[in-house]
Amino acid sequence: MSDVLLRTGSLSFAYPERAGLFRRAASREVVKQVDLAVPRGSVLGLVGESGSGKTTLGRLLVRLLKPTSGGIQFDGLEIGGISEAEMRPLRARIQMIFQDPQSSLNPRLRLGVTLTRPLKVYGRIKGRRDQRDRAAALLDLVGLPTAFIDRYPHELSGGQRQRAGIARALALEPDFIVADEIVSGLDVSTQAHILLLLRELRARLGLTLVFISHDLSVVRVLCDDVAILHHGEVVEYGPVARIFSAPRDDYTRQLLSAIPLPDVEPGWLDDSSPFVPPQQQGSAA
Ligand SMILES: Nc1ncnc2c1ncn2[C@@H]1O[C@H](COP(=O)(O)OP(=O)(O)O)[C@@H](O)[C@H]1O
Ligand SMILES: [Mg+2]
Repeated sequence: MSDVLLRTGSLSFAYPERAGLFRRAASREVVKQVDLAVPRGSVLGLVGESGSGKTTLGRLLVRLLKPTSGGIQFDGLEIGGISEAEMRPLRARIQMIFQDPQSSLNPRLRLGVTLTRPLKVYGRIKGRRDQRDRAAALLDLVGLPTAFIDRYPHELSGGQRQRAGIARALALEPDFIVADEIVSGLDVSTQAHILLLLRELRARLGLTLVFISHDLSVVRVLCDDVAILHHGEVVEYGPVARIFSAPRDDYTRQLLSAIPLPDVEPGWLDDSSPFVPPQQQGSAA
């Protein structure tokens, strides 16, 4: 067993562009020659401005997209070119969480149903009692009260919806999760609580994460390594502490200078601050 769970080699991707009447189908690479290695149990931050290719790269890593060239190895297995049928046995182990929890939380279904749907699909639910127990356990894992089983997504705050999105992604006990801008759009204090939740889950469940953000400041609290993406290329890649203390690339320096000072509770960016489950704080963010 290698200590690298996910590795990419010269990974590239171009969206096919449609041919026009006087134009041949062309393509433009939006992910270029990306080499990453994500050690088991670690968190890699993927940072870059809007349009830099983060979502495309994330979708490649979970094989929602097929690489134009280059490879992706998951747990020692080359998955870059394999078919959806061949991917199927791996699907439960690989999850993606999106910025917009709307896409994973069906507005017409109660949370208890939504959270356990992946388990149902994989035949891992034994009756109604079991379904409720599993839903309750998932809610508990992300710091939401059991009573939320019967809630609809619109009855939740933004932070609570993101927690529910995380719970759903955890249902099948995956070992690899790509989280795409999941704290963007939340207020800073809610962002902090979600980051601390992820940090705690990562430690407790031994998760390997790729955490995508356009905001370099949020990766500091969670990530071991950071890759900076610019026009589809990794321009800087290394341990988070090194990137923050001694950035080598001009573009990284630019991103660092744009970081606003956090105005939340002192210490939340401090790695030594203990994780306090939200129930104990009175209310879940
Ligand atoms: N479905 C698509 N078809 C064609 N081009 C796309 C598609 N999705 C994204 N792009 C283009 O690919 C580039 C990278 O986009 P994306 O991966 O969404 O970046 P990011 O997540 O960093 O904002 C952008 O130029 C975007 O316009
Ligand atoms: Mg994106």
